[in-house]
Amino acid sequence: MADTDTVKSELLARINESQQPREVLRAPELRALADELKNLPPEQRADAGRALNELKQALQTAIEQREAELLDQAVTPIDVTAPFDVNSKAPSLLPTEKGTLHPITQEIRTMSDILQRMGFQVFESREIDDQYHMFESLNFPAGHPARDDYDTFLTNETDENGERYIAPAHTSTMQNRILRELKPLLDEGEPIAAVAIDRVFRNEDLDPRHEHTFYQQEGIYVDKGVHVGMLVATLKTFLESYYQKSLEVRVNPFYFPFTEPSFEFSLSCPFCEGEGCSVCSYAGWIELLGCGMIHPNVLKMAGIDPTIYTGFAWGGGVERLIMMKRGIEDIRHFESAKLDFLRQF
Ligand code: DAH
Repeated sequence: MADTDTVKSELLARINESQQPREVLRAPELRALADELKNLPPEQRADAGRALNELKQALQTAIEQREAELLDQAVTPIDVTAPFDVNSKAPSLLPTEKGTLHPITQEIRTMSDILQRMGFQVFESREIDDQYHMFESLNFPAGHPARDDYDTFLTNETDENGERYIAPAHTSTMQNRILRELKPLLDEGEPIAAVAIDRVFRNEDLDPRHEHTFYQQEGIYVDKGVHVGMLVATLKTFLESYYQKSLEVRVNPFYFPFTEPSFEFSLSCPFCEGEGCSVCSYAGWIELLGCGMIHPNVLKMAGIDPTIYTGFAWGGGVERLIMMKRGIEDIRHFESAKLDFLRQF
């Protein structure tokens, strides 16, 4: 009979190197030992049987140890920076959690889409500008008291006129540029129809309705024979499309240096439909934006003859529109980077 001890040390060595140690139980050497046992004279059979059983027991124990060892090696150490779930059986390089676009980006896309379908070209604004575009080109001459309505941030550096640069407090800074760029359309008999949607900055006291950094939407339309009725109809059409419902709108006289006449534009609360609720402070109406007929001086400064052409403009906060649409109670959530807020969109 083959030496049980030799077989034992041979098989134990194999178990300790194997990736599938249980396979060793099917080794031909073991079967040979069992076969030999049957042919042994009865007086030797008991001892040999016991020896074989002990061998199998030893192999079993070794297999279990080896299996535990293999399992330990298979566990991936945790990498907390990994962009995938390290605990999944087959780690994949695909992120397990997909991000979403920021709610402002999503909504600006929706607004731009509606306005483009209405014939408006969409422009971006800029995050630093000069005093000419912030004020002069909009008919606020130097020393004009209405400049004080805009609490802006200024740089220490100055431009060639010795004036400090400015973080734009409204998207109206784009009016002069857009009018100049699109003026050739008027010469071809086409209207100028454009919007600028971008970030603006104000030195505000912060509260649920005021942020230092927010977005505005600016619209301009210039052609022969443009009148206030077209302004109201354009804004009503845009807002009804954005809120997907019919709305009542209202204009009240107001003052802006760059429009004459100027209006404050309100709409019936899209939340309570005019009944009164916390969104509209129980007024039923929401003052939404500023608008008016573009001041002749603004057209002149862009090289457009105000005796031939007239136009309208509007400008207002983007977040306010979104807050009413999505039921968001505090404007500060948008820039807060709070994930539990952002994950809802
Ligand atoms: N720029 C103004 C503001 O931020 C809003 C505004 C009012 C824009 C009237 C316009 C306008 O284009 O015609 O307070």
